[in-house]
Amino acid sequence: MTSTASVSTVPPSDDRVLSGMRPTGALHLGHYHGALKNWVQLQNTHRCFFFVADWHALTTHYETPETIASHTTEMVIDWLAAGVDPAKATLFVQSRVLEHAELFLLLGMGTPLSWLERVPTYKDQIANLKDKDLTTYGFLGYPLLQAADILIYLARYVPVGADQIPHIEMSREIARRFNNLYGKDPQIEAQARAAAAKLPEDVRQQYHALRRAADQEGLTEKRDEARQLIAASKLSRAEKDALRAQLGGGRRQILREPEVLLTPESKLPGLDGRKMSKSYGNAIAIREERASVEHKVRRMPTDPARVKRTDPGNPERCPVWQFHLAYSDAPTREWVQRGCTTAGIGCLECKQPVIDAILREQQPMLERAQPYLDNPRLVRDILADGCDKARAVAQQTMQTVRDAMGLKG
Ligand code: TRP
Ligand code: SF4
Repeated sequence: MTSTASVSTVPPSDDRVLSGMRPTGALHLGHYHGALKNWVQLQNTHRCFFFVADWHALTTHYETPETIASHTTEMVIDWLAAGVDPAKATLFVQSRVLEHAELFLLLGMGTPLSWLERVPTYKDQIANLKDKDLTTYGFLGYPLLQAADILIYLARYVPVGADQIPHIEMSREIARRFNNLYGKDPQIEAQARAAAAKLPEDVRQQYHALRRAADQEGLTEKRDEARQLIAASKLSRAEKDALRAQLGGGRRQILREPEVLLTPESKLPGLDGRKMSKSYGNAIAIREERASVEHKVRRMPTDPARVKRTDPGNPERCPVWQFHLAYSDAPTREWVQRGCTTAGIGCLECKQPVIDAILREQQPMLERAQPYLDNPRLVRDILADGCDKARAVAQQTMQTVRDAMGLKG
């Protein structure tokens, strides 16, 4: 126990990936082109855990819990439709791995309220969602619950959109603080305490203040200052070494600091050109009826300047062009550019290749979804199996966490 390097409880090759989605029901093509396609790739290269964040849904929808179960099934069918493969990735439901709640509770003991209050979405959401009372304990704790979700699997990578970066950053701080508080190496601590006792009173206090700032607030420059203080002291070489070991970590890495794996934003906007979102009514579902896809695309707004068929248009001002950018090859795009700007093609004509491309993309997804729609039991079995696997990992972490905190059962 003389090494001062931080010791990881995770083998370095085991780069676990974890991500979650709130159960919103059926997903749309924006989810597919954003998150899901990315998950499908990651499951081939990493050990992936993907979960339904149903407790998270309750932080904002605690008054309507009855929708959660059906939304969970619908969403997981869409994951499977998109190609998420239960033989490669572990799919599970948060509320069925109770260990998340235990870690959430334990982490809550030492998490400063100010960390939660300063998460950018916190005050925004309370202001934006005026029809809901979000001044609850659960809503304030949302990012801490998310930290527990991630840390309990010792995940290395968390694929999320840019909006989630502050949450992952906070998970890192929480892991760091946990390791600082509970990952102490008792031998190093004892030697360092003995050495510090020999420092003059004022220097000792200064040293402790600097170390606390470095450990708990992550201020690395304070660590450098503390090192200089040690170097300038009259302690023996061994005593200086002990203090430096304490400063340089002397901590076991019990919880791992996760990294954001930024998901590029979907190139596909909604039917009206704004971001695709169910609440805007501008979405195409992953499993949308063929006739409905045709209907929706035909009704899409186009360049407002193109009133009559004979008016030339400008694709840059038309949401249909964005769909061509997402779906069409170069010759088709040239055909659109020329046809639109010369009034050589009509808008319905222009939309047909988009309709065809969407239907082509959806076909294999519909086929993959069908067995699960015919037999929802299959979905339940996949989730039950995934929950068991996830729980086994979570239980292991909790054992280490309880030990580190001195909770011996
Ligand atoms: N907060 C995420 C969202 O709204 C969902 C989520 C909950 C999550 N726990 C997570 C994502 C853990 C990644 C990792 O999209
Ligand atoms: Fe849009 Fe195509 Fe019509 Fe031009 S021709 S306005 S790109 S739909």
